[in-house]
Amino acid sequence: MSSKTKMECCVIGTGYVGLVTGACLADLGHSVTCADRDKEKIESLSRGRVLIFEAGLEAIVERNVASRNLGFTSDIRRAIASCEFIFITVDTPPDAEGKADLANVDSVAREIAAAINGYKVIINKSTVPVGSTRRVQRIIEEAMEEYHEFDVVSNPEFLREGTAVSDFLKPARIVIGSDSQKAIMRITGLYRRIDAPLLVTDPVSAEMIKYASNAFLATKVSYINAIANICEAVGADVREVSLGMGYDERIGFEFLKAGPGFGGSCFPKDCRALLAISGDSGYDFNLLEGVLEVNQEQQERVVAKVERALGGLDGKNIGVLGLAFKANTDDIRESPAVNVTRMLLEKGARVTAYDPQAMDNARQALPGAGFAEDPYQAVQGADAMVLLTEWDEFKWLDYGRARELMESPLIVDARNCLDPVVLRKLGFHYEGVGR
Ligand code: UGA
Repeated sequence: MSSKTKMECCVIGTGYVGLVTGACLADLGHSVTCADRDKEKIESLSRGRVLIFEAGLEAIVERNVASRNLGFTSDIRRAIASCEFIFITVDTPPDAEGKADLANVDSVAREIAAAINGYKVIINKSTVPVGSTRRVQRIIEEAMEEYHEFDVVSNPEFLREGTAVSDFLKPARIVIGSDSQKAIMRITGLYRRIDAPLLVTDPVSAEMIKYASNAFLATKVSYINAIANICEAVGADVREVSLGMGYDERIGFEFLKAGPGFGGSCFPKDCRALLAISGDSGYDFNLLEGVLEVNQEQQERVVAKVERALGGLDGKNIGVLGLAFKANTDDIRESPAVNVTRMLLEKGARVTAYDPQAMDNARQALPGAGFAEDPYQAVQGADAMVLLTEWDEFKWLDYGRARELMESPLIVDARNCLDPVVLRKLGFHYEGVGR
């Protein structure tokens, strides 16, 4: 990339979104400094250690650190002063009412006000309530000692854990919410090497797009889970139903997999935050309340299935396969797998769990559980195997061997990833979701 099109970017907050954004912008040829007040994190990143498990990320970080397109610092003000583009990618954890807590965003806004030394495009990628772009604008205006021109832009991020790098570089769309023509032109230049539809809109609409998208996808998941529950009662197969629905382009195949409910750091939190936003606006969004209710019940239903099949859980040995909130991540935040395991433990079961990536994170969350080194060890002597995360390696286990190791042959496959015909031939009693 020529030095004319190479842009100086500073990314504040090196969590999931921040690190992926910084690494990918560097890979697009820009000069990027990732800044974080957590000195330990910065030190370990500077040594090339990426602490999150994300396919392809470490290689991109290494490559761009080596080419000097990517650097790390805990000196946030200096990073701000040396760049035109400032990305805000900090945490907005929920407060007691489920609303996004903006303390971290506000504190970055004050840092920007203290360090501003020329025109800056301030780009917010954190998921924030509607009106936050203007709030950041106001904080900087009020705190700035010497006047400098700047624009604040909402640019929500839609990447998924597990596919974050390709989601960033090949997004379905880029949303830019701004009232400033100058900022829109600058940020369009920044993304010019990404081939995706560009939607330019006002900041409040951009902020709504993020919540509305996540809540809609969560609604799709709860919808198909509710349909799965009816399928179980009437003898239909929800996977066939999803397929038949998905061919209709107005519906689509995505996010129609029935399972133990949705989890992760986004869907549950963003649904609750949108409920708070809608409540504050005077609208009773009971559709979305239903989505969260179905999601909670879906996890309880998995526990009830095991309990029913075993005639109680007290003292039973359960082998749990999968703890991450979905496959290809080590993340257990609001993981249905962890919630189900916790409920099994509360009902007196002895649980031995295995997950290829998430066990270190799960140990603290599940103090009562045992942890196995491999799936076979997890089901040794078990009265039931409960499959909770759809890791590929669980699809190709030697189930004949598992059957021999288990005390009684029950499999509850909460992700519908196994073949009931094969398992029944091996002597298992198989229960899936909605089939
Ligand atoms: C989600 C969105 O998909 C991203 O677009 C968004 O950027 C991100 O939140 C965010 O706001 O940061 P993510 O949380 O990584 O991404 O996970 P998803 O792949 O969307 O899955 C969410 C949950 O829904 C998982 O527990 C998954 O197992 C569940 N799910 C998903 C189903 O149960 N069935 C499906 O068909 C699809």
